[in-house]
Amino acid sequence: MLKGKKIVLGITGGIAAYKAAELTRALIKEGAQVKIIMTKCACEFITPLTLQTLSGDLVYTDTFAPAVKWDMAHIALADFADAFVIAPATGNIIGKIASGIADDLLTTTIMATDKPVLVCPAMNDKMLANPIVQENIKKLKKHRYQIMDSAYGELACKVTGAGRLPDTPGILEEICKLLSPATLDGLKILITAGPTEEPLDPVRFITNSSSGKMGYALARVAKRRGAQVTLITGPTALTLPPADKIIRVRTAREMHRAVLDNYKMAAIIIKAAAVADYRPAVMAKEKIKKNKESLSLMLERNPDIISEIGRNKGRRIIAGFAMETENLLANAKEKLKNKKMDFIIANNLREEGAGFQADTNIITIIDKNGQVQKLPKMTKIEAAGAILDRISSVINKKGAIKK
Ligand code: PMT
Repeated sequence: MLKGKKIVLGITGGIAAYKAAELTRALIKEGAQVKIIMTKCACEFITPLTLQTLSGDLVYTDTFAPAVKWDMAHIALADFADAFVIAPATGNIIGKIASGIADDLLTTTIMATDKPVLVCPAMNDKMLANPIVQENIKKLKKHRYQIMDSAYGELACKVTGAGRLPDTPGILEEICKLLSPATLDGLKILITAGPTEEPLDPVRFITNSSSGKMGYALARVAKRRGAQVTLITGPTALTLPPADKIIRVRTAREMHRAVLDNYKMAAIIIKAAAVADYRPAVMAKEKIKKNKESLSLMLERNPDIISEIGRNKGRRIIAGFAMETENLLANAKEKLKNKKMDFIIANNLREEGAGFQADTNIITIIDKNGQVQKLPKMTKIEAAGAILDRISSVINKKGAIKK
């Protein structure tokens, strides 16, 4: 998402300035081009050389420094950026921006830009709670500034309270949000992800290899685009993505119940979960002993969740996945029709880099009118973006169910 994006990072003079080094590294790792402005006080906490080394570029500290090539740094940086991030942002910089003060390179550049600006406050808890600081934050929010909530925890001054710089993954997620189109703004979306587990006895179960990556990528991108996300997830080993509501389930029947309880308020339903079609007819109360040469299991059908909501979908958009090992398009088209979906996303587990576990997928999006869009191998985050692009193009025409 941040590949090729141009980020100007402003660092101000608080103890959390050292964390800007980690943020710079993470931005570079994500493929962003980073230019850094440090205030005079920031240079007391961390050296420009550290940031220069990590960003691979000169660090700007002085409005009146002799230029390497002729430009007006504050205007050139304001134009260069796709987005600005101020991390950490002290009470002082927040106050200056809120008051229209431009007395150094960072404040003049911020004043000169019309690009999105993310402010990440970090300071002592009492300073943060100060009504003047709070008023300034409110003022910035009223204008075009995005303000992250400071994290709660132990502060450098050894007290526990609000005022810590949000963690690096949280800041990266906010930057991605800032740079994403708000195409799902105000829409409620329900996403299922991961495998289900169907217990045989207290220690064994039938499952599949779904990692949850595809469904979590959809939840993450939908949230970035402004949707209100409910995620219903089977058991996975992943860190949960940002979502408004998360329901953890284990079996197909639990997922069925959770979907039925939550789908009505959703405008969009995407079923990326790999749901077990069958479960053991009986779950043994105690661990099954190996006292026979062979063992037969009786399986019975699980509810087909997507078919059930397909029959009662009203104006909702329903997208499912088809996980195939042969006849990809024919099988996917049949599922699309039988399960009354608006879209089906077909992925072939036999293709390298597609389906279970991988960070990539190779998907074909088919809509109910038979239009087929075959996409090349891409990350699951990019695939999620492509799926949500298609869905938002129809939902906006259709007049969606809003919050
Ligand atoms: O989680 P990852 O490791 O990232 O892997 C991603 C994935 C391969 C699991 C994902 O891309 C995918 O293909 N998910 C759907 C898997 C699946 O169950 O496909 P299916 O063809 O068996 O089912 C078709 C659709 O019906 C699916 O949307 C499924 O969620 C739904 N279904 C299936 C059975 C059932 N009882 N109820 C359902 O709602």
